[in-house]
Amino acid sequence: MNSLAFQILHLLSDGLSHSVVSISNRFKCSCYEVFKAFDEIDSLKIRLISTWNHNYCWKKPVQWLDSERILNEAKLSNDSYEITIIDVTKSTNNYLLDQYKEKYIDNQRNPKNTSIVAAELQTSGRGRFDRRWYSGLGGSLTFSIGRWCKQEDISAFAGLSLVIGLAILRTLNHYSIFDVCLKWPNDIVSDARYQKLAGVLVDFKSHAHRLSYAVIGIGINFNLNNEVKAHIEYPVTDLYSLSGRMIDRSVFCGTLLAKLHHMLIDFEKYGFTYFKEEWISSHAFEEKVINLILPDCSVIEGIARGIGDDGSLRLVTEQGTKSFHVGDVSLRIKNDGTQYIND
Ligand code: BTN
Repeated sequence: MNSLAFQILHLLSDGLSHSVVSISNRFKCSCYEVFKAFDEIDSLKIRLISTWNHNYCWKKPVQWLDSERILNEAKLSNDSYEITIIDVTKSTNNYLLDQYKEKYIDNQRNPKNTSIVAAELQTSGRGRFDRRWYSGLGGSLTFSIGRWCKQEDISAFAGLSLVIGLAILRTLNHYSIFDVCLKWPNDIVSDARYQKLAGVLVDFKSHAHRLSYAVIGIGINFNLNNEVKAHIEYPVTDLYSLSGRMIDRSVFCGTLLAKLHHMLIDFEKYGFTYFKEEWISSHAFEEKVINLILPDCSVIEGIARGIGDDGSLRLVTEQGTKSFHVGDVSLRIKNDGTQYIND
């Protein structure tokens, strides 16, 4: 996706008609390049309306993310947070992981404590277990938070991804969306049919005697179109289906960041234990019979009963109670009557 396509989309977001000649003049390119950009826009399933004399308009433009609205809502200080919005990137997690080297290892300067990057479109969004995370332009909120931490040992981050899931849940509740719950370790699913609404992917970089860097990637479905849904192999839902209204992504992102700001401070002070009871009370499968799928594809059946202080899932099996760690396993509910839930 070249940037001319996005420049044109930003221009056409005014909903007015623009001629190919005026677009080419504005962006100092040829009409041929404008038509090529239109092809790219078309491949994103964005339908522009063309009129007889090569005038184009975008009837239902997306509401672009807006860093000012995000920061206003989040009420975070500019000194410790920096926020970047980009039109298109492969993955916002990768974007921040690449910055780790550039910002810290190469320059050896003290970076801002927290960097946030949100993308209008990810071309290779990543999910857990090397899966793809699909989202279309304007239909999702996809962003990552890069946070520098003093701990060198990544075990200090155990439970972090669960806390992020809880922050998303609290934010949904703030928007009066209550028919959602958590699926261990960090999915947010609908209450009724366990359809996935949001997911979290945490990557780490750590070097001896240096700050560690956690990249927290968050993907939330706002209004998925059918083409995007067709790629997704598990049951999904979005905020529009759950709430019946279009929620402003920037405002939602700001609310979530405000909650995360406080929760991350508490997490860094007290660890996951601080959030454990609240997390368990929102767990979709607490006291339910579930199947855990291990990396060798074997399956362990048991009753989900509580979470360890490190965020591990406690499973009561015929052989006694066992703990499973984030990253080791994926979880399915057994006998839900309808279908299996993929992680
Ligand atoms: C999962 O449920 O498997 C995790 C999904 C995480 C998706 C988000 S979208 C923003 C960030 N960038 C990525 O490439 N992935 C995460």
